[in-house]
Amino acid sequence: MGFETLLKKINDEREKLSKEDLVAILWASPMEKEMLYKQANAVRSRVMGDEVHLRGIIEFSNHCTENCLYCGLRKGNRILSRYRMEPGEILEAAREAAKWGLKTIVLQSGQDPYYTGEILSRLVFEIKSRLDVAVTLSLGIRSREDLMQLKKAGADRYLMKHETADPELFAAMRPGTTFKDRLNCIHTLKELGYQVGSGNMVGLPGQTTATLARDLILLRDLDVEMAGIGPFVPNPATPLGGSPAGSVDVTLTVLAVARLLLPMAHLPATTALETMHKQGRRLALECGANVIMPNVTPLKYRRDYAIYPNKAGCKLEPRDSVIEIRRLVENVGRRIGEGYGHSPKFPG
Ligand code: 5AD
Ligand code: SF4
Repeated sequence: MGFETLLKKINDEREKLSKEDLVAILWASPMEKEMLYKQANAVRSRVMGDEVHLRGIIEFSNHCTENCLYCGLRKGNRILSRYRMEPGEILEAAREAAKWGLKTIVLQSGQDPYYTGEILSRLVFEIKSRLDVAVTLSLGIRSREDLMQLKKAGADRYLMKHETADPELFAAMRPGTTFKDRLNCIHTLKELGYQVGSGNMVGLPGQTTATLARDLILLRDLDVEMAGIGPFVPNPATPLGGSPAGSVDVTLTVLAVARLLLPMAHLPATTALETMHKQGRRLALECGANVIMPNVTPLKYRRDYAIYPNKAGCKLEPRDSVIEIRRLVENVGRRIGEGYGHSPKFPG
């Protein structure tokens, strides 16, 4: 099938697109990629509009019980100094972020059982009752009871990246855990009524183009409300410190295909992409992305949320990261979303 036929198929029969079709698209030549990006940008504009939604992220704990090979927060990383923010401090950071006009607060941490379902639910309830914001959680795997309690407390969305759709690669990268368990947790989140974000890394050692095609098919079949797609960035404090980074070009291609497969999904221009390329977020906004997540973690903790090194914007005060992003959005001729930026499938 020629490239143009594939682009037509992804438009008209996206649910029928096979893994082989996707591999063929991912192998596009530079000229074909230009066509792909143009189509992704057009679909983004037609379906999601020109608004870029901001989600203020608070990284409230860098403790983690897991030992993922790629991540600097892994429990085996003894050189990282660990912190936990108290609920009052988190609420204060959320209040600040709301003051800068952010309409979504993302509470993210390593997998940290110190924060019980009870503590977190109380925090979510406080944020939701005091501030005019949507709340997204990104806490890793939690029990069904916790997830239910958090939803009742008012949480709107949950981010749980599938990381890679290759179960063997998954098990190698995340020792002691299985792809199946993660998928089950994603299904639980959907069942409980969360708007669900998933996503994967591009360029993990051992990943192939066929793996990326599987990632995309999984995202389509899960029909996620959001998909975070970013390059793997090697962290010297992890076992994968010596592996090559994921390619910016391939990441943009996967992102553009994701826009075509999931026209209604929110797709962030990721910090990892900005870390690998100084125009990374702008490039992403031009091939399908419509969300940016400014970091509003208090500056004193920022350095220690070291998933990977030299994280873009890691030295900016929360207010300045919001200002920087507003400027970027203006420069690409878009505007900042003023609403909560819920999924179009969850209008309320
Ligand atoms: N490079 C890029 N992204 C990473 N993540 C973790 N480690 C890395 C890395 N080295 C992402 C994962 C995870 C989130 C916490 O950060 O996708 O879901
Ligand atoms: Fe922990 Fe998530 Fe990092 Fe894995 S990727 S070590 S679960 S913070």
